Amino acid sequence: MSGEFYRNMTLIPYRKENDSSMEKAEAVQLMFDSIAHRYDLLNDLMTAGMHRRWKQLTIKEVVGDGVESVLDVACGTGDLGFLFKKSGVEKVIGIDFSENMLNVAMRRKNDKKQEYVLFSRADALGLPFRDDLFDAVATGFSLRNVDGIGKMFDEVYRVLRPGGRFASLELTQMKSGVMNSLFRIYFNKIVPILGGFITGDREAYDYLPESIANVPDAEELGIMMEQVGFSSIKVKKLGFGSVAIVSGSK
Ligand SMILES: C[S@@+](CC[C@H](N)C(=O)[O-])C[C@H]1O[C@@H](n2cnc3c(N)ncnc32)[C@H](O)[C@@H]1O
Repeated sequence: MSGEFYRNMTLIPYRKENDSSMEKAEAVQLMFDSIAHRYDLLNDLMTAGMHRRWKQLTIKEVVGDGVESVLDVACGTGDLGFLFKKSGVEKVIGIDFSENMLNVAMRRKNDKKQEYVLFSRADALGLPFRDDLFDAVATGFSLRNVDGIGKMFDEVYRVLRPGGRFASLELTQMKSGVMNSLFRIYFNKIVPILGGFITGDREAYDYLPESIANVPDAEELGIMMEQVGFSSIKVKKLGFGSVAIVSGSK
């Protein structure tokens, strides 16, 4: 059954060579290629391991009766995909455009002997799948990095089957207050030093606070999802409001 599912995927070439969005995409790709070997460690350190719980809550928003096939968009080293598999989903595909992040995912897949988690190199803004294919779609910490959140939502909506659910886990700007000030100090000052020290790529972790500032807040993301066609939008704030899961149905 799984074999048949994978054979039915159609590959659609997406980006044109003179596409101006290539510049940001290439920079982001290179950045994740450079930090891939330490990405998981950094995630654990930066969030004190809380990202694991947030990811579990994310997949809970979309799994349920009749969910047999899921897509993890911008899967990185594969966390969400492995959690989907653990929760009993039969067919799990993760896509990402960073080769090194995918290599880590593949290594983990082999260690875990997870034959039916498939990882593939693809662009989140031009998903190589036919319409209405997946029962559910999820993404973790990708919106800050893609060159066009709306474009990505369009693509997710297209590949999701009617009635299927999508959830995005992402850092979000906090409303003002003491916690907001503390988090600003943490993300602007401490994370770049920690990230630079552990990965040897300080720039990648200078980019983190900049990228958070560029992402719309959780409520705005919900509105963007509605504009694409999603309904039953839910926003769940976590980590003192520093992180949000935004989900919706096709
Ligand atoms: C912060 S990591 C998140 C990885 C993983 N989802 C997680 O939650 O740990 C962001 C990922 O998005 C990927 N990415 C960014 N833009 C992308 C695009 N246009 N297409 C595919 N992957 C993309 C990067 O390569 C990187 O692996």
